[in-house]
Amino acid sequence: MRRCTSRLLFCLGLSLAGQTLAADGGQAYCAWEMQNLAIEGALCGLVGDAERGRKLAADSHGGNCLACHQMPIDEEPFHGTVGPPLHGVGARYSAAQIRLRIVDEQQINPMTIMPGFYRDPRNTNRIAGEFWGKTFLSAQQVEDLVAYLESLK
Ligand code: HEC
Repeated sequence: MRRCTSRLLFCLGLSLAGQTLAADGGQAYCAWEMQNLAIEGALCGLVGDAERGRKLAADSHGGNCLACHQMPIDEEPFHGTVGPPLHGVGARYSAAQIRLRIVDEQQINPMTIMPGFYRDPRNTNRIAGEFWGKTFLSAQQVEDLVAYLESLK
């Protein structure tokens, strides 16, 4: 299972945009804390932008969320069905709950195939290549996605 997961992460990694530790305007990795299956505080205290989040969700070099999720982004023809549809996700979950699901869905379901987009880079040493020591998305990108998904009521 672990091997399978890390291989998938590697494959996905090829199509996701890598962030160095000091990417995102010099923003280093910010540790986060999980409580009640949620992350209350914004990563690095950043403010998300829903418009940027929407673009990122549809970008196959960004979050690539559409590869697995249906979302109200009608101009994109392909929406995957591996994950649950995200229509109305902002009505089902708080921003804090959405944040954890993007940051590290494995905290909720250890068997999930959804990549953890902002896990501690020190624990991702199984990922090869350009993602070694990096998170898949920057803290700002995660917060932009949280802002977008929260707006889907
Ligand atoms: C490789 C496929 C895949 C990709 C890529 C992916 N997800 Fe997921 N996602 C899933 C699956 C599968 C689940 C269901 C959780 C589980 O596996 O238990 C899920 C669950 C979620 C949930 C919780 C939904 C709910 O109703 O419980 C959110 C929110 C979410 N994903 C957001 C995102 C965002 C935002 C992105 C892009 C940054 C993304 N996902 C990329 C597969 C994926």
